[in-house]
Amino acid sequence: MLDIIILAAGKGTRMKSDLPKVLHPIAGKPMLEHVITAAQQLGDSRLHVVTGHGADYIKTTFSAYEDLNFIQQKQQLGTGHAVQQVLPSLSKGSIALILYGDVPLISTTTLTRLLSAVTENTLGLLTVTLNNPSGYGRIVRNSSGSVTSIVEQKDASQEQLNIQEINTGIMAVNSPQLQKWLPALSNNNAQGEYYLTDIIAMAVEDEITVVTEEAENEWEVMGINNRQQQAELERIQQQNIANQLMVDGVTLLDPLRFDCRGELRCGSDVVIDVNCIFEGNNTIGSNVTIGPNCIVKNAVIGDNTEIKANCMIEDSQLANACVIGPFARLRPGTELEEGAKIGNFVETKKALIGKGSKVNHLSYIGDASLGQNVNVGAGTITCNYDGVNKHQTTIGDNVFVGSNTALVAPITVEDGATIGAGSTINKNVKEDVLALTRSPQKNINGWQRPVKKEQ
Ligand code: UD1
Ligand code: CA
Repeated sequence: MLDIIILAAGKGTRMKSDLPKVLHPIAGKPMLEHVITAAQQLGDSRLHVVTGHGADYIKTTFSAYEDLNFIQQKQQLGTGHAVQQVLPSLSKGSIALILYGDVPLISTTTLTRLLSAVTENTLGLLTVTLNNPSGYGRIVRNSSGSVTSIVEQKDASQEQLNIQEINTGIMAVNSPQLQKWLPALSNNNAQGEYYLTDIIAMAVEDEITVVTEEAENEWEVMGINNRQQQAELERIQQQNIANQLMVDGVTLLDPLRFDCRGELRCGSDVVIDVNCIFEGNNTIGSNVTIGPNCIVKNAVIGDNTEIKANCMIEDSQLANACVIGPFARLRPGTELEEGAKIGNFVETKKALIGKGSKVNHLSYIGDASLGQNVNVGAGTITCNYDGVNKHQTTIGDNVFVGSNTALVAPITVEDGATIGAGSTINKNVKEDVLALTRSPQKNINGWQRPVKKEQ
């Protein structure tokens, strides 16, 4: 049995934020969520999260996760004290894996390797060798190369400070041994804290061998204490996501100018131009091209659809072979059927645009449903709001809406109807009828334009 302990009680003072540190996002998800996801992929295990600062907020954020055991550490007396709070919850004879809520990019592969280092007589410790080890606990080895202890920066001798192999904090230990060692910790050190790292010397004392594993990538064990480190890991994670997409066959015209803050699934031969941002949950079909500077959030995009430059798409569904933009804004509840076209400076909201229908220029279509092969002329507006309530516009198949039409909702325009340009339509229009509200044109002969007065 595996007990996974995630330490997340710290305040994160250097973030200078009201939000608990572990809730700050990396690639659109709280850093703690990354750790939980990596932990869950280890298979059968129990997950314990030690919280302190912002405990309730963290608990609420993860309320959808059923199998998290939140344990409150009322006072932050050190990493050893934090793990001690979990002792009563550990399963008998389990292996305890200790992770950190602010070390978000740890990989399941590295953790699996670390876990395989644990036997009855060994403990697994994840270390990394850094050019600049400053601030970290140093790994002290004896002349035969065996680990004998970890010494914290603030307690280290001048000689020990030269050690470049550092403690990542991540370790895997037999829980009966933890049950024995942790209550024996003292806080007699430079920081007056109960150090988890002191169990290493206790292990050696008990003839338990400390087996070290190095993380595959340095970024896996990088922690976040401030906004610079957050930004650094954000970029690294964006490169990781971009690399995976390219491995999966997506063309990114510049992987350095690509951001995915959530999930992005793509079919084959998807091409994404520069400076696009994908937020939330997006599913993109095959042969889709997305032009530069698009923001796509919670969208489903069908095969062969083309999104031209500078579009915003949110909570919308686009069927196959649609063409959008440039400069289109699809707001929540937009649904485009196959072959629909939304052109430049068009805004849609809660709008169903039927198969092959076109809204090509400068329009607002909200709270509306359009049938098939409808042509909406430039400048057409659905007047959906009377200042108090929203009303629905319903348009049938093969309707032609002339340019600069105001459709005053609630209104229904039946199949095959035609609306003359410049009309304000506030009465329902029956099938195959021409509706227009144009006032008769006057032509005045010999009209003299005003002339400029002499100064
Ligand atoms: C710790 C290690 C150090 C290691 C470094 C890696 C100890 C004593 N030192 O140092 O060897 O190189 O991590 O980053 O373990 N936490 C709690 N409750 C507490 C104290 C801390 O939950 O009472 C949590 C923090 O929220 C944080 C983590 O434990 O996520 C590490 O604590 P921190 O105080 O940052 O330890 P370091 O001094 O960085
Ligand atoms: Ca730290």
